[in-house]
Amino acid sequence: MSNHENGLPNDKPWPELKLPELLSSDSLRALHAAIESEWDFLRRSACQTAAGRALWKQVIHDPLAELFAGETYLKSVYEKIKKDRLNNAREISGVILAVRTLWFDSKLEAALSSSDGGGAQVVLLGAGMDARSYRLSCLKESTVFEVDFPDVLHAKATIVEAAANSRNEHHHPTMVAKSLIRVAADLTEDDWIEKLQISGFEPEKSTVWILEGILYYLSHSHAINVLKIIAEKCNITNTVLLADFMNRQATTLSSSTFHFYCDWPDQLLPSLGFSDVKLSQIGDPDAHFGLLQDPLNLFNKLRKLPRSIQTHPDDGTPCGRLYLLQASGSPNQSSS
Ligand SMILES: C[S@@+](CC[C@H](N)C(=O)[O-])C[C@H]1O[C@@H](n2cnc3c(N)ncnc32)[C@H](O)[C@@H]1O
Repeated sequence: MSNHENGLPNDKPWPELKLPELLSSDSLRALHAAIESEWDFLRRSACQTAAGRALWKQVIHDPLAELFAGETYLKSVYEKIKKDRLNNAREISGVILAVRTLWFDSKLEAALSSSDGGGAQVVLLGAGMDARSYRLSCLKESTVFEVDFPDVLHAKATIVEAAANSRNEHHHPTMVAKSLIRVAADLTEDDWIEKLQISGFEPEKSTVWILEGILYYLSHSHAINVLKIIAEKCNITNTVLLADFMNRQATTLSSSTFHFYCDWPDQLLPSLGFSDVKLSQIGDPDAHFGLLQDPLNLFNKLRKLPRSIQTHPDDGTPCGRLYLLQASGSPNQSSS
């Protein structure tokens, strides 16, 4: 085996789970209990995602992830990781999420450091417990808009406030984005773009759109509507889209949870008006971050198969894929 044990460099051992003291405060205990008992799976997915990031802390520095996740999700993901490690699994739980997060971070940073991107506004659709405004210095010139359901954004703000007021300075969050605006909206309603604009989004200003872990929770028509609304902005200003797509086989793994899929997002996006479309798969050179060294892990095996293949030739299991897409558009490109 290489100098990577189960996807993580050996010089970065897995830490034991140590819950932050603040999670045992009455207010955060009550908040997380309400999240578990009252939120639907869509909203809860925000905390599950945060748990994944919290437990891959050797590669993702997210100062708020543990607090956002809450004890139950932290313990559950921790147990899965422990089991995978004990079984010497080729893929450790959460690796896909870690790679996805790092891919979005790196592409966002590249977009903002390009000549057109400096000071661009950044819109996170289905922002959930994303803490980029507190962890990515490339956002220092950017206004960030976080769009999600009102209860998710409210819980998030409550947790950030609790961290800021904590006696433990270690928890104090430092905002690194120029500013952060939370926009309560439902992406399946027609008015989310108006709500964004009323909140200060400027349609003429360069924009980076982040759609991480959101499209496949929407129906086909809602997902396409969201993408069309963003594509229209390419006629007005420099626009960068970063989004992940599941293929059909990936959505069949949980058909009650996942809806929208696209086997060929690199064809869909140009048809909607985007240019410079680039598709990456988990494990590609720009999407492994040293975490997927084993050539026999699922992702590396998948990458070797043609994308049109629906089931593994070896064992007949579905070829579920997560595609990472970057695309752009600008008024110059649209008129040419
Ligand atoms: C899997 S989480 C991903 C969160 C975040 N992008 C991240 O990567 O940490 C999906 C998020 O999408 C939000 N979401 C799902 N459907 C939505 C809708 N129709 N309108 C607004 N937000 C939605 C959920 O509330 C949840 O926060």
